[in-house]
Amino acid sequence: MCGIIGYVGAQDAVPIIVDGLKKLEYRGYDSAGIAVYANDGFSVAKQEGRLNALETRLEEQPLFGHLGIGHTRWATHGEPSDVNSHPHIGSQNKIAIVHNGIIENYKQLKEYLERRGVSFASQTDSEVIAQLAEYYHRGNILDTVIKVTGRLEGSFALGIMCLDEPETLIAVKKDNPLIVGVSEHGNFIASDVPAILKHTNKVYYLNDKEITILRKDGVRFFDFDKEELQKTPETITWSFDSAEKGGYPHFMLKEIMEQPKIMRDTINNTSASVREAMNELDITQFNKIVITACGSAYNAGFVAKYVFERLCRFPVEVELASEFRYKDPIVDERTLVILVSQSGETADTIAAMREAKARGAHTLSIVNVVGSAIAKESDICFYTAAGPEIAVATTKAFSAQLVVLYILAIEFALRLGKLTADDSDKLTAEIALLPDKVETLLSQVDTIQKYAASCVGYKSIFFIGRNIDYAIAMEGSLKLKEISYIHSEAYAGGELKHGTISLIEEETLVVAIANCERLYPKIISNVEQVISRGAKVLLLSNFENAEQNDHQSHILLPPTVDLFSPSLSVIVLQLFSYYVAANKGADIDKPRNLAKSVTVE
Ligand code: AGP
Ligand code: GLU
Repeated sequence: MCGIIGYVGAQDAVPIIVDGLKKLEYRGYDSAGIAVYANDGFSVAKQEGRLNALETRLEEQPLFGHLGIGHTRWATHGEPSDVNSHPHIGSQNKIAIVHNGIIENYKQLKEYLERRGVSFASQTDSEVIAQLAEYYHRGNILDTVIKVTGRLEGSFALGIMCLDEPETLIAVKKDNPLIVGVSEHGNFIASDVPAILKHTNKVYYLNDKEITILRKDGVRFFDFDKEELQKTPETITWSFDSAEKGGYPHFMLKEIMEQPKIMRDTINNTSASVREAMNELDITQFNKIVITACGSAYNAGFVAKYVFERLCRFPVEVELASEFRYKDPIVDERTLVILVSQSGETADTIAAMREAKARGAHTLSIVNVVGSAIAKESDICFYTAAGPEIAVATTKAFSAQLVVLYILAIEFALRLGKLTADDSDKLTAEIALLPDKVETLLSQVDTIQKYAASCVGYKSIFFIGRNIDYAIAMEGSLKLKEISYIHSEAYAGGELKHGTISLIEEETLVVAIANCERLYPKIISNVEQVISRGAKVLLLSNFENAEQNDHQSHILLPPTVDLFSPSLSVIVLQLFSYYVAANKGADIDKPRNLAKSVTVE
């Protein structure tokens, strides 16, 4: 899950790389490191901890060079430490690498090299790449890269420097993302666009098993047969500002506040493209839909299950991608598999997509990052217009996923003859009103902030709801535990009495979500049950008749149809989690043990 960056050009590589690493820190922050070519050798600085620890070290011992590679790590093999930090350099000091991914056969390769006298400095799987490269290197780095990668099992995006070619940066990838950026003053490799957006918006997306050779004045691409490839650059439309905090204390708050705009943009972009795509796709050929994703994207899929089933009267299963891939899933050419992913690079979701395709299913993805693996490999892709999302806890991408899923469900229902054109227009008009309603909620930020400040002391916070309110309760709970580290669980209101209610006591807060009219009395009964066991309750509902007393607070949501109410509930849930975490002084944008793009299993 690490972030990698490399630069070769006319400018000093170190500030460019450090600055790029800041934009990649969301991918991992156990340690950071940088290596530059200088004075006929490599100069290296590696430091356990956050990037600012590396920056302090670089102030004390500055490095200079015009060619360099950098890394911010989320450790998979070997504890976070200086020695396990990347870059890794072979024992002859000839080849330096940064690696994102996992080398599954590193033990065998390590033993192979150790038997031949190579000694290792770190406990990482990655070091084996640098050592193997030195072992195989006979003067031509392209040959070396082909030979080494041919022996690696697992996933990798690699940035490589070789002393024999001091003006060349080399990169290669398999199953992990890597882009190549080109600018007037030099050329770049990076795990993600924001890392280089300050310098260029012209990028090439590297495909699996493509090698790129970058020099100051040009970039070339090769396949594993050494055939040169002609690739076309793409122009990124994200602005540089979109990857900056813009005066907010955290990216998460900035991204929460951006939601009305990104929802509008996503609605505008998606409506026509969904209609167009559905002209090509006969959805009556399918007998079931499976939505598969991870984390919050899974929660978006869980919300969508209720929307699709209600509008289309069509069976929809929701599966965690990490389970789907190994469960021998029952999918075939009559299944539509929908993949939801902000990054488009989540390893489990990619594997689920490949599993589904191998079984003949048709794949449709909802992705935020243009050119990412899921976007490219799925049969149809709809992009969310969320722009770069930097905070590890997703907010705006989730909201954008929801509106794409609503629009899809309406279009499906229409084509399946389950919805009249009139009803479809009414629902579409309701979706168009959501961004304004989100704006109204965001203007109540002070009330939510004040309430959240009083919740820091709770030992445990439960989120309950029924039907679609239960689905969004899952997202509320994930958001809270992710950034505040307070224990939390989400439950279907009716399920509490089957066990979980034994956990309810005085230091418990229960956030109850109640937007389904038919089920309102039921969830209110659940509220009574937990209050009588000592819990405090926060009720989120668009019904006015909620009580307010010492035990119970109420945040009134703007009215909408219940199927779309998750888009409003989630705004309060995000702000609530944000301010609870902020009041605890938590590191909100980079919660402990997490990384944003989970590109490893
Ligand atoms: C959300 O706040 C999480 N950080 C996480 O659950 C995330 O949604 C999940 O890892 C899936 O990521 P993706 O959307 O990039 O596939
Ligand atoms: N496996 C490498 C390490 O632990 C890279 C980890 C990653 O890409 O997440 O250093």
